[in-house]
Amino acid sequence: MWRIGCHGYYSLLIVVLHVIVLRGSASVQIATANYSRDDFPPAPHFVFGAGTSAYQVEGAAFEDGRTPSIWDTFAHSGRFGDNNNGDIACDMYHKYKEDVQLMVDTGLEAFRFSISWSRVIPNGRGPVNPKGVQYYNSLINELIRHGIQPHVTLFHYDVPQELEDEYGGWLGRKIVKDFTAFADVCFREFGDRVSYWSTMNEANVFVMGGYDLGIFPPGRCSAPFGSNCTGGSSATEPYIATHNILLAHASTARLYKEKYQAKQHGLIGLDILTYGLVPLTNSTEDVKAAERVHDFFHGWFLNPLVFGDYPESMKKIAGSRLPSFTPHQSKLLKGSCDFFGLNHYRTMYIKDDPDSLKTNQRDYLGDMAAKMLSKQGHVPSGQFPIDPAGLQIVLEHLKEVYSNPPVFIYENGQMTYHNTSLDASLNDTSRVEYMEAFMGGLLEAMKNGSNAKGYFVWSFMDLFELFDGLKSTFGLYYVDFNDPDLNRYAKFSAHWYSSFLRGRTINQYLQDH
Ligand SMILES: *[C@@H]1O[C@H](CO)[C@@H](O)[C@H](O)[C@H]1NC(C)=O
Ligand SMILES: *[C@@H]1O[C@H](CO)[C@@H](O)[C@H](O)[C@H]1NC(C)=O
Ligand SMILES: *[C@@H]1O[C@H](CO)[C@@H](O)[C@H](O)[C@H]1NC(C)=O
Ligand SMILES: *[C@@H]1O[C@H](CO)[C@@H](O)[C@H](O)[C@H]1NC(C)=O
Ligand SMILES: *[C@@H]1O[C@H](CO)[C@@H](O)[C@H](O)[C@H]1NC(C)=O
Ligand SMILES: *[C@@H]1O[C@H](CO)[C@@H](O)[C@H](O)[C@H]1NC(C)=O
Repeated sequence: MWRIGCHGYYSLLIVVLHVIVLRGSASVQIATANYSRDDFPPAPHFVFGAGTSAYQVEGAAFEDGRTPSIWDTFAHSGRFGDNNNGDIACDMYHKYKEDVQLMVDTGLEAFRFSISWSRVIPNGRGPVNPKGVQYYNSLINELIRHGIQPHVTLFHYDVPQELEDEYGGWLGRKIVKDFTAFADVCFREFGDRVSYWSTMNEANVFVMGGYDLGIFPPGRCSAPFGSNCTGGSSATEPYIATHNILLAHASTARLYKEKYQAKQHGLIGLDILTYGLVPLTNSTEDVKAAERVHDFFHGWFLNPLVFGDYPESMKKIAGSRLPSFTPHQSKLLKGSCDFFGLNHYRTMYIKDDPDSLKTNQRDYLGDMAAKMLSKQGHVPSGQFPIDPAGLQIVLEHLKEVYSNPPVFIYENGQMTYHNTSLDASLNDTSRVEYMEAFMGGLLEAMKNGSNAKGYFVWSFMDLFELFDGLKSTFGLYYVDFNDPDLNRYAKFSAHWYSSFLRGRTINQYLQDH
């Protein structure tokens, strides 16, 4: 087993135990073109935004009737250290007006956020909490009033703890009905103003981190595939949870299309994390391994949603551990996404690993029979290498294999460590370099026919991160977590993005500053 980097963890996407950092220089491809906002289609046909999610920014964890989710429980288990949880986070629950004003100042055209299930329906099922509904109505109205398009995620890692305790959350088939009922409330209350709905955020990473490696909520896994497991089976639960997530998505999408779409004119999709997948060598084995990793990592969701069934390679390797769809379920799934959300950060180099299939005791990652390797390139340890070609590979693949569905790049951005020096934190040149390269790569892919409809920076502000809480940051805005007022400060990246959104070329701002 390989460990990665010198920090033990590396990115939200990492497959912690399987990533090797390749030494040497990766070719860092920076878009050289001096492009501007005008090179992309105008809003609302294509929008530039930024994102957050409920638990990561709202705080007010125990206020106005909200009950805990599995993320509260996970964060409170102490794994990120004392007081490193989302109880207060950025306190956006109270500061949303100020934050929308910052979005206006930045020139954001769209804002992506999620709705906390246990705030709207405490305990997950039953009566609706008027104060929860009121918060999201206020936020949505504030966005609309300023011409910022809301993009809403229904599930962002936060199953109500009550449902986790009752039937195991996504492991229980009952969640299909409960999730659909929650979505129904959201469509009914907010759908007159919200046109872009994602059922799930980064569904593939949620099940891998939450049920195979045990590093994300609900922290389930089994030895030797994870440590600190709260119970579970890395061999079967990732597949079971995914199956129920897909069925809940299909049920929700059908509800939206039958009951709301004709009058609300919105769209519904699902979001996954994507990697640019490149065979490490041109050997037949590595090329096939890269296809297999694509099937397991992307196709696990894309194939059922586009074609109605799991990829053949998964059925063959996972066998009876992979649940199957009835013809009725398959029909409901097929074509249930009006668009896909893609969270994209990095490229992985794939090396065939046939030995992993020699044991019957395999987890989901072992079933892939491949190692995912990352190249560090010319960026400091702890930051993501800059490889926009990986995004182009993903978009090209969606175009060729999945009939070019509309896609939103719902997350992309650079990680840096939280630095108590304000000056150091605000001077985030590496974030600008990263965004500039990926936005340029996206433009190239669109010129080549990709059906991309938007680009959202992760994240709008520093927030409670998935894998280490407040220690690493992706924000355009710095949040001073040591200040009781949690003041926000625009980083260099916020100024640069703002200049781009106001029509200046990517290089103009840099030349002037
Ligand atoms: C397991 O938990 C302990 C104590 O919370 C922590 O120090 C350790 O890093 C955890 N291990 C992993 C792999 O998360
Ligand atoms: C694989 O082949 C392609 C096309 O011939 C070439 O561009 C690429 O550099 C090769 N990759 C490796 C790792 O040898
Ligand atoms: C914070 O920034 C200073 C100044 O650039 C740097 O020397 C220090 O290593 C940074 N700390 C962290 C934790 O990145
Ligand atoms: C910001 O960082 C860049 C490179 O990391 C450095 O060249 C520049 O001098 C810094 N600017 C300020 C104002 O510290
Ligand atoms: C651009 O699109 C064409 C036709 O679909 C395809 O053959 C080609 O590989 C694409 N180029 C890139 C860089 O993806
Ligand atoms: C980019 O374009 C702007 C506006 O056309 C111009 O002012 C600037 O000098 C250009 N920068 C580079 C590096 O080409």
